[in-house]
Amino acid sequence: GAYHGDTIGTMSIGSIGRFKNLYSPLLFPVVWTSVPCAVPDQPERESEQLEHWTGELERLFELHHETLAGVVIEPLVQAAAGIKVQADQFLRRVWGLCRRFDVLLIADEIAVGFGRTGTLFACEQEGVAPDLLILSKGLTGGYLPLAATLVTDEIYDAFLGAPAAGRTFFHGHTYTGNPLACAAALASLRLIEADHVLRNASRLAVTLAEELAPLKRHPQVREIRQKGTMVGVEISRAGEAYPPEMRIGHQVTLACRRRGVILRNIADVIVLMPAPAMPESLVTELCQVVCESVAEVAV
Ligand SMILES: Cc1ncc(COP(=O)(O)O)c(C=O)c1O
Repeated sequence: GAYHGDTIGTMSIGSIGRFKNLYSPLLFPVVWTSVPCAVPDQPERESEQLEHWTGELERLFELHHETLAGVVIEPLVQAAAGIKVQADQFLRRVWGLCRRFDVLLIADEIAVGFGRTGTLFACEQEGVAPDLLILSKGLTGGYLPLAATLVTDEIYDAFLGAPAAGRTFFHGHTYTGNPLACAAALASLRLIEADHVLRNASRLAVTLAEELAPLKRHPQVREIRQKGTMVGVEISRAGEAYPPEMRIGHQVTLACRRRGVILRNIADVIVLMPAPAMPESLVTELCQVVCESVAEVAV
């Protein structure tokens, strides 16, 4: 379920066929592995998964470490996969293996960054310092398009030298460093601090869990996955997926729309990703609309 974007490199590392198949002759070779999922209330199963997939990753490192350019991961949660929350400590295990085998760790925090998982950056929760940190969306609060690639000094210095040495990283775009977008980012960063947005996000995480709790008992809700303010409500019927042509997830979002809320589904998963700065009352309303819409449609 990896998704990292739609340029050639990022499509290459994505694993969702419909987003990239058209371009398959152009894509780079990639080694994929599965990620152990969080199993709430079943710590033993979660740790079994963690051990299994860490072992598999170690095997892949042994085979490929000499040719890997880096390891790319969405820390803690795979968003576009349908809010797949990873087993606790998996990220740290990945980091440990990267350091042991001298492979760069690239953390894609485009979706999870800026408070969405409970800390400013998701990597912080497992004490992980990636070699490259990719940021966007929350950087400007979504108001203007801006992305940033943060790197360690070691990587930065690798591109320094006399012009004749040809070490310059020639990879610029028309709107690189766009002043307006940067001003929006600076304003947004100031607001994150001044308005205690991280504290608000923690409150919202509790509100989301409480307000969506009734859905756990709904027979057509297979699972509610949550990390911070990122939530995926997966709909199924008697444990089996609905027929795809019913587009049940889409039907739920249409029912939400009739109630004045615009939400997105990823197949049969209803995605709630309220802005970390959102007032609590709006999040309560959001959850109530989701509960009502699921009850109306998923029968
Ligand atoms: C985790 C993640 N990485 C990368 C991207 C792609 O970002 P962009 O569209 O800015 O290239 C997205 C977009 O949704 C994303 O969720």
